[in-house]
Amino acid sequence: MIDTETRTAIVTGSSKGIGAAIARRLARDGFAVVVNYTRGAESAAAVVGDIEAAGGRAVAVQADIASIDGMRALFDAADQTFGGVDVLVNNAGIMQLSPIADTSDEAFERQVATNLGGVFRGMREGANRIRPGGRIISFSTSVVGVYQPAYGVYAATKAAVEAMTHILAKELGPKAITVNAVAPGPVETELFMKGKSEDLVNAIIGMNPLKRLGQPDDIAVVVSFLAGPDGGWVNGQVIRANGGVV
Ligand SMILES: NC(=O)c1ccc[n+]([C@@H]2O[C@H](COP(=O)([O-])OP(=O)(O)OC[C@H]3O[C@@H](n4cnc5c(N)ncnc54)[C@H](OP(=O)(O)O)[C@@H]3O)[C@@H](O)[C@H]2O)c1
Repeated sequence: MIDTETRTAIVTGSSKGIGAAIARRLARDGFAVVVNYTRGAESAAAVVGDIEAAGGRAVAVQADIASIDGMRALFDAADQTFGGVDVLVNNAGIMQLSPIADTSDEAFERQVATNLGGVFRGMREGANRIRPGGRIISFSTSVVGVYQPAYGVYAATKAAVEAMTHILAKELGPKAITVNAVAPGPVETELFMKGKSEDLVNAIIGMNPLKRLGQPDDIAVVVSFLAGPDGGWVNGQVIRANGGVV
């Protein structure tokens, strides 16, 4: 059982989009939150401001999770500010769509470094530093199961996250730390909307049984469950939160 007095969560990439909704929700749940960003200092400060205005505790920390030492810096900041880490949400990710034939080495390396390298280093740091009873929650995508053209490298990085999730869950069982992944379908954020025409967005909405896009809060509630006391028996799972589209 996690000590409700001292619970701390790191949410990578929480200056906007799904991560910002998760940071706000976990703060409401009683966590002290490390809000992480690379470029969005103002947005991250706004998320911290919202949390503090609601009576919560949060700190904004700039760290590039694609770099070798980004994750260590985040855990160090959490230790120094809040005295330890109970939950890591590996949310930060990037998506650069192109057919494999046209994908540059740079786009490949960047997505691998962020979506896979960042999650790997988060998992490793978490495996060594998260307190017993803690949680590691990483982000995949429902696209992993769809094999859609142009999603090759992005989907591959997320499939690797799912593989590591299943394995780390078995490795960390003895430490009483659960490890799960959340795989959203289309969610209305900058990552999803960028470069899509209104017609394409409407076509995607039309394919969803619930006839709408997901919203960041639809995903934040799933993370809240996995991070909270009621989620403790869910371990080594990938939860496809997507309105039933796949
Ligand atoms: N939106 C969807 O439809 C969808 C569907 C399935 C899965 N997902 C996954 O859900 C996660 C969140 O996506 P989103 O839609 O919320 O994306 P988003 O709106 O683009 O937000 C991404 C966040 O990650 C941060 N970030 C990016 N690169 C980073 C890095 N190297 N180090 C630290 N922070 C970094 C950004 O901060 P800065 O702006 O400061 O760089 C931002 O706060 C991703 O893993 C994505 O793959 C999204």
